Amino acid sequence: MQLSEISYFVFGNWKMAQSLSSAEDFVKSWSADPKIQSWDLERAKVKVGVFPSYVHLARLKEMAAPGLIIGAQDCSDESEGAYTGEVSAKMLKEIGVEWLILGHSERRQRAKEDNSLLRRKLDRAIEADLKVVFCVGESLQEREQGLVYEVLDKQLEVLNPAHKDLVLAYEPVWAIGTGKTPQMRDIEEVHQWINSRFPALPVLYGGSVKPENSKEILGVAGVRGLLVGGASLKKENFESIVQYALECQKF
Ligand code: PGA
Repeated sequence: MQLSEISYFVFGNWKMAQSLSSAEDFVKSWSADPKIQSWDLERAKVKVGVFPSYVHLARLKEMAAPGLIIGAQDCSDESEGAYTGEVSAKMLKEIGVEWLILGHSERRQRAKEDNSLLRRKLDRAIEADLKVVFCVGESLQEREQGLVYEVLDKQLEVLNPAHKDLVLAYEPVWAIGTGKTPQMRDIEEVHQWINSRFPALPVLYGGSVKPENSKEILGVAGVRGLLVGGASLKKENFESIVQYALECQKF
């Protein structure tokens, strides 16, 4: 199935927040839960995944039930060679990883990832046949200065019309981990704007998504899924959010 045919993506970005044992407990109990295993994600056209730390990927992939994607949070911009500490897209593919997050604001800020680096990472991911969640979003200052579309425009310059195995995630930086979310009409406006420029690419929303607000956000026109940080760490919370995606009859 093409990504453009998927109704909703519900992805959990675990950042550096889970220990190996808590990550294993999550995946083990998710994969053994009869209610979760009875969901027909294929028929509902819903994709569900979590994105743990590199060092947990191989272990969690072995434990995960088929409906649970185990993706990576980053990759190197190089294919192979003398790059201490880096992990190539090809290595991720070798252990069976199929999805990857790129351009998260925490990496843009902390690791100073800019467009030229992200363009190379995206190329490596595509060469390795990985699907990408590409994150974009403005800071509070940029929003207050009315620069939202200028910032997004610049961040989206790295995309190439040939990129097909890709979904976008609109994550306003000021909403990440803060408990603040934009007004629904602001989410809709940004999603419609991105949709008009990249009609073939599903656009997820991310930033302080919780079980309490996920239903409303999923109902916003143009929102094709959620990238969830903190609320994806606990099985009960993530399960409620996926449940809403399955119930949401937008399509
Ligand atoms: P949050 O993180 O849900 O904890 O705000 C979202 C993200 O960084 O992807």
